[in-house]
Amino acid sequence: MNQFYVTTSIPYVNDVPHLGHALEFLVADAYARRARKQNKQVIFSTGTDEHGGKIDEKAQAQGIGAQELADKISGEFLNLTRLLNISNNRFVRTTDPAHIKRAQLIWQKLEKDIYKGNYIGWYCTGDEAYFSETEVRANNGICPNHNRPFEKIEEENYFFKLSRYSEEVYTAIKNNKFKIYPKTRRNEVLALFDKGLEDISISRPKDKIKWGINVPGDSSQVMYVWFEALMNYITVLGYPEHLDFKQFWPANIQIVGKDIIRFHAANWPAMLMSLGLDLPLSLYAHGFVEVDGKKMSKSLGNVIAPKDIVAKHGVDAYRYYFLRHIPSSSDGNFSWDNFEEVYNNELANELGNLIQRTASMVQKYLNSEIPEQIPPEHDIKNYETAFDEFHIDQAIEEVWKQVRGLNQYIEETKPWVIAKENDLDHLKEIFSYLISSILEIGNLLEPFMPDTSVKIINLFNQTKIPNKIEILFPKTK
Ligand code: MSP
Repeated sequence: MNQFYVTTSIPYVNDVPHLGHALEFLVADAYARRARKQNKQVIFSTGTDEHGGKIDEKAQAQGIGAQELADKISGEFLNLTRLLNISNNRFVRTTDPAHIKRAQLIWQKLEKDIYKGNYIGWYCTGDEAYFSETEVRANNGICPNHNRPFEKIEEENYFFKLSRYSEEVYTAIKNNKFKIYPKTRRNEVLALFDKGLEDISISRPKDKIKWGINVPGDSSQVMYVWFEALMNYITVLGYPEHLDFKQFWPANIQIVGKDIIRFHAANWPAMLMSLGLDLPLSLYAHGFVEVDGKKMSKSLGNVIAPKDIVAKHGVDAYRYYFLRHIPSSSDGNFSWDNFEEVYNNELANELGNLIQRTASMVQKYLNSEIPEQIPPEHDIKNYETAFDEFHIDQAIEEVWKQVRGLNQYIEETKPWVIAKENDLDHLKEIFSYLISSILEIGNLLEPFMPDTSVKIINLFNQTKIPNKIEILFPKTK
């Protein structure tokens, strides 16, 4: 069990990355980094979902080819991973020839559960999803997510026998063989199975959708984008023959947004069962990021590019804000004001100041010499449990309790008074405790703030404090 595999969903390439996509990358990154610290071998995969009518439509509107649009936007997602210091070691694109080839192979392996039929129903290209008569009626024929009429489709296509796996998937979730977090989402998912799952349409006629992967043996159809996109989680490992697949599947953690949980908690497990493969061990659905209390949308003009925030406050401040202040079990909000407040109060005043004052007191009272340390005995059980249960916000809060505790320790022990009394042994004792605890904080922060972690550790993991101390989070007001 030394292998650890974590995935994010793969965003569509119809539009540039935003704060929501970035959040998902960050959460996955925290788990990947934590696993590496636990000496696990890690595959961390993300990528882009590049087929379907939605992308084709957008490309046409821009007067470019779908592949050209995909190349451009996929590059932007790749840049985002770099900007945010995301440690993924795989980046899959569904237009990669390897994905296409393997997706076709998977289709063939699923053929025992595939049949041809007539689909009559509704579709929204914005969602790339099918809708039932009841859903369409409840919204007066207009897709509430995209403000455009649902499209009535009547066509021959292929179906996957999802119904056949309904019971088995339900049982796996119920028995926690396949764990879903948070609890509210797990309950929502279980409710989906109340009436049993229905078979799903998994292809579209090429005369309606051109931009997709050909169905093997039927050149008049392309695979439904969601069906083929889910396969990325194993095509990226080189399913079926590659050693990575053999060693790393099943995934330890799959991370997705709350809006696409159904695809990952029902369709995907059923596909895996049909292939005779194990289900992922856990699925975590994060909430949505809003801006100034409103859904991000172009028409509201409140879409913020992650790079604008990073440019202003740095990557670790970005990572900290989104991992700690977007609640792990619900939706959360970004506002510039709140960000500034958090930056100044928590990063500059609490963490930054702790590091700064400790280092400068060592300079002043101990001639810059870092005293020998006793290993700390803090209990980090709560931190680990919070991580295990997908409460990243709480895991960070646990570290912050230590940060605040140490600032208070300084206030209470008053090293400046002891220095006046020339009690060197006592001073050494205090700084020994402080520095060993700070080093532990540095270590615990690594999954969330990797650069800051290195800076903290480098500053104190030596014999002397350098003359010039870098201020970690300079105050902005
Ligand atoms: N292409 C599909 C996923 C296929 S996975 C096999 C897709 N793409 S998406 O670009 O629409 O969304 C990508 C991820 O971003 C999803 O997990 C989605 O929930 C997440 N988010 C999109 N908007 C978001 C917010 N406003 N806030 C947080 N995450 C959100 O769905």
